[in-house]
Parts: sequence; structure tokens; C-alpha cells
Amino acid sequence: MRRSSFWKGTTAIILIQTLILIFLLQLRDDSKCSKEKPEQIHILIISSWRSGSSFVGQIFNQHPQVFYLMEPAWHVWMSLRRSNAKVLQMAVRDLLRSVFLCDMSVYDAYLHTNKSNSNLFMWEVSRALCSPPVCNLFQHTDIIKEVGCKLVCKNQPFHKVREACKSYSHVVLKEVRIFHLNALYPLLSDPSLNLKIIHLVRDPRAVFSSRARTTRLLSADSWLIANSFNNNTEYTVIKEVCRSHKKIYETATEGTISFLKDRYMLLRYEDLVKDPITKVKEMYNFAGLGLTPVIEAWINETTKENNAIKYNAVFRTGPRNAVNVSQAWRNTLSFEKIEEVQNICKESMEHFGYRLLESENEQKLMSLDVLLPMNHSFKV
Ligand SMILES: *[C@@H]1O[C@H](CO)[C@@H](O)[C@H](O)[C@H]1NC(C)=O
Ligand SMILES: *[C@@H]1O[C@H](CO)[C@@H](O)[C@H](O)[C@H]1NC(C)=O
Ligand SMILES: *[C@@H]1O[C@H](CO)[C@@H](O)[C@H](O)[C@H]1NC(C)=O
Ligand SMILES: *[C@@H]1O[C@H](CO)[C@@H](O)[C@H](O)[C@H]1NC(C)=O
Repeated sequence: MRRSSFWKGTTAIILIQTLILIFLLQLRDDSKCSKEKPEQIHILIISSWRSGSSFVGQIFNQHPQVFYLMEPAWHVWMSLRRSNAKVLQMAVRDLLRSVFLCDMSVYDAYLHTNKSNSNLFMWEVSRALCSPPVCNLFQHTDIIKEVGCKLVCKNQPFHKVREACKSYSHVVLKEVRIFHLNALYPLLSDPSLNLKIIHLVRDPRAVFSSRARTTRLLSADSWLIANSFNNNTEYTVIKEVCRSHKKIYETATEGTISFLKDRYMLLRYEDLVKDPITKVKEMYNFAGLGLTPVIEAWINETTKENNAIKYNAVFRTGPRNAVNVSQAWRNTLSFEKIEEVQNICKESMEHFGYRLLESENEQKLMSLDVLLPMNHSFKV
């Protein structure tokens, strides 16, 4: 008799405890749902000048689910030309945060009051600004041509930029004006942003060679990095590029920063050029996007051998295509300059797997591959 009522009591207590547990789990699930349902995925492509970032940007820009802007921080740098890269990085960070959240009022600081979509730097390379709701020239599923867009879609009301941004599942920005990963920590650790980083690097000898052909175009940027103009400015800039990109990679992969887990991917430009479809799939996978047949065909076409002219017409600031072009510096740079760049960037090059050349013979021996496998993991 007593025994049975003891069991009844115990059963009741267990039942109540179970109900409380279920209730608490429910509560936790609810709060999880409301907190962890990011509306958009945000991708930041970090790179340097002349490193193939226009092409990588376009790989995202042409995707129908992506709102893409190229170099939003150009406005910060060009508005404050007497400053320096380090001082400007927090203004750059704040601009990136706002743009990721589609809050375009941040441009009030950098553009005049009567602004339109075409006041944004390189707006015509952005499919989102050449298709509805901004402009009806292209559909979201089209591969766009910037020339047509520039003619037809200019001077649209600025508020449509925000409207467009809000309508996509992914916001992707490409930026060469980031030199310290820790400037981005507040963005990376913010769950409402859901930010992921694709870090694009390129052989510094190729970067140096390509920069040499565009020194004048890059002079305002170079000043903000080197804070001087002399015969050494280009070397000062390449030194800072090599230093900062090695450091960004080290910081991201050392594994001590928990909020970077699954949020960082390294891409070497040369690997992309060698096997574009595989690398594009990897990047899309990382970003939560699917490869469409239209984009696959477009990538095949743009990276095809001998397609240099066609490619350049699509992205006027982009580097040209294919493996040969990524090796062009071996014909254009003197061995003296190669040595100088190698001395400056030795650590970074060893880190990213770019073989150091030891003689002019090696430089001209095109069968000698300067791209080595990277032993490090590409993702954290
Ligand atoms: C504002 O810009 C539009 C388009 O560029 C132009 O037509 C208009 O006259 C401008 N208004 C003012 C007040 O400047
Ligand atoms: C820079 O280069 C020019 C031409 O090559 C030369 O005349 C000049 O002396 C150099 N200046 C310095 C500071 O080395
Ligand atoms: C693109 O190229 C790859 C590799 O050559 C090939 O397997 C694929 O079928 C091509 N895709 C399209 C859509 O042309
Ligand atoms: C690419 O490089 C190879 C080897 O150097 C050469 O034989 C070929 O003609 C080059 N192709 C183009 C399009 O330049």
C-alpha cells in the first residue's frame, strides 16, 4: 500500500520535471529561432589592387541572388585624401557595416544631397543596379554588360539602391582597402550580420607588374598607404600589401578567434585561373549559393584561352584571363625588379606557396611552375 503511493508520487515528480524540461527546451528553441534567423548572408571579398578581385567580384555579381557593390570604401578614401590607410580603416568598417545592412544613408557623408545610383563608384558593374527595381534593362538572371547599363540605367533615384539591396538573399562587397582583420572583428562577431570573408591573394610579382602599368591611376591610393611619393613608393606599397595579407591569413587561421570559425576562406588567384569551375563551386558553397548553368557557361567563356579582348570589354578594370596572363610578369619584369619584390615579400610568398626565382634563366623557363601547393588549410 505505502509502496504503491511512493511510486505514484515519484512518477508524478518525474512527470512534472519532464514537462518543465520540455517547456524550457521549447523556450530556448523559440529564442534561438527569433535570434538566429539572419535575413541575409553577407560576404566580404578582401584583396589588393590588381589581384583579380574584379573577376572574383563579378563571379558573385552575376549570380541572380546577389546584390553586389565594388569598392564601396573608395568613397571614404577619395573624400579624405590627406589622411592615411590606418586612420581611415574604422570609417571603412562603419561604411561596410551600413551597406551590408542596406542602410545607404551612410553615403550622405560622401556624396552630395541630390544623389542617384550612378554616383556610386563603378555602379555600372553591379547587376543589381542595372536590373529591377532600379532599372529594367536586365533581368536578375541575365549576365550583364556594363556598357549598356551605363547608357540606360544612370540617374535612377538613390532610394532604389536600398530597395534593391533589401530584395536579395546575399549582399556581397569587394574591398581592397582593408589591411587589418581586427578592424572587422565587430562585424564578424555580430550574429545579425552573418558575415563571411573570402580572402583573395595573388603572386606579388604579378601584382607589382600590373601596378606598374597603372601607377597614375593608383596614385591617390598609393599616397594613402605610403604617405609619400618617391622612387620607392611602389615598393613601400607592395611591402604593405604582402605584410598585411600574410597577417590577415595568419590571424584568421591560427584558430584562437572563435567567431571566425566557418567564416573565412582563402583563395589564390592562380588556383582560380587554373581550375575556375572547381574554385567557383567552392566559393559558392562557402557562401550558400548554387552554380547555375548560365553562370557556368559564362565562366567557361570568360576564362577560355585567347579570350583576352572579350574579357577586358566586360570588366575594364579587371585583369585579363587564363593561366598565361597570370604568368605575364615573367616576360615584363626585369630580374632585378623580381629580386627586389622577392626580398620585400619573401615571407609572404613562402607562406602562400609562390616559388622564389633564383636566376634570369629560371624566370624565362616557363615550364618551371612558380605556384606551389599550400600546406595550410584553406578554411577555418
Ligand atoms: C537632381 O538630379 C537630377 C538627376 O540628375 C536632376 O534632373 C535634377 O535637376 C537635380 N536637382 C537638383 C535640385 O539639383
Ligand atoms: C628617382 O628616379 C629619377 C629617374 O629615374 C632620378 O632622376 C631621381 O634622382 C630619383 N630620385 C631619387 C630620390 O632616387
Ligand atoms: C564548362 O567547362 C567544364 C570543364 O571544361 C565542362 O565540364 C562543363 O560542361 C562546361 N559547362 C558549360 C555549361 O559549358
Ligand atoms: C601560353 O603560354 C604557352 C607557353 O609559354 C605558349 O606556348 C602559348 O602560345 C601561350 N598562349 C597564349 C594565348 O599566349
